[in-house]
Amino acid sequence: MEKIVILTGAGISAESGLGTFRDEQGLWAQHRIEDVATPDAFTRNPDLVHAFYNARRAQAVQAQPNAAHEALALLEREFSGEVLIITQNVDDLHERAGSQNVVHMHGALKRALCHACGHRWDAPLVMDKGDECPACQAHATRPDIVWFGEIPYGMELIDPALNTADLFVSIGTSGQVYPAAAYAQHSRRMGARTVELNLEPAEHSRDFEEHHYGPATEVVTAWVADILAGQV
Ligand code: APR
Repeated sequence: MEKIVILTGAGISAESGLGTFRDEQGLWAQHRIEDVATPDAFTRNPDLVHAFYNARRAQAVQAQPNAAHEALALLEREFSGEVLIITQNVDDLHERAGSQNVVHMHGALKRALCHACGHRWDAPLVMDKGDECPACQAHATRPDIVWFGEIPYGMELIDPALNTADLFVSIGTSGQVYPAAAYAQHSRRMGARTVELNLEPAEHSRDFEEHHYGPATEVVTAWVADILAGQV
């Protein structure tokens, strides 16, 4: 039975109106990573970090899944083998499109984390440093997001998936952040075919055997249609 492992990045949610990070108007052109996306940033100025994620959470709640998210949900339903999505994204557009087998390696905007007791719960739309942990009542809550310098989530699922994938597909990511940027090489070494679906060649394009460039709503829907047609 064939196994498809799909890595997604901010590019798959771009046509849903959510910003990417590294294009000219990207999030990292508007904010400094060291101000809003590191543990030190949160210690230094929790209000600024909460404001950054509150704004992104409000946008993500308003956004709708696009045709690319829906195509991947269709693939999971109709494909005869297994489909796993590893997403670097913190929005929940894959789940709202109907995908169920999703690993959020960088956390999720809709979740809150208590850094005193480790409890996780559904985040309120607007988080504040004064929020109380529902489990231990400490005022030690943070967005459940993996910041730079922290260990990504789901490694216990991701490594075995990369070792056993028949097909590894990268969608909408610039291939500049590790460990995700090394996944194509890893799965290829383990025998997987590799496909890049992106707006334009990414940093690690040479790691892929097959490339389709264009907006995700076009290239992902076309690619899913080919896969499902090919299995009949
Ligand atoms: N369709 C397909 N691809 C697109 C589209 C689109 N409509 N729009 C942009 N892209 C591509 C860009 O060409 C780029 O290669 O999506 C990629 C987005 O790259 P980044 O902005 O770097 O986002 P990403 O790769 O997801 O960043 C990875 O970096 O900052 C951290 O934690 C953050 O998860 C993020 C990680």
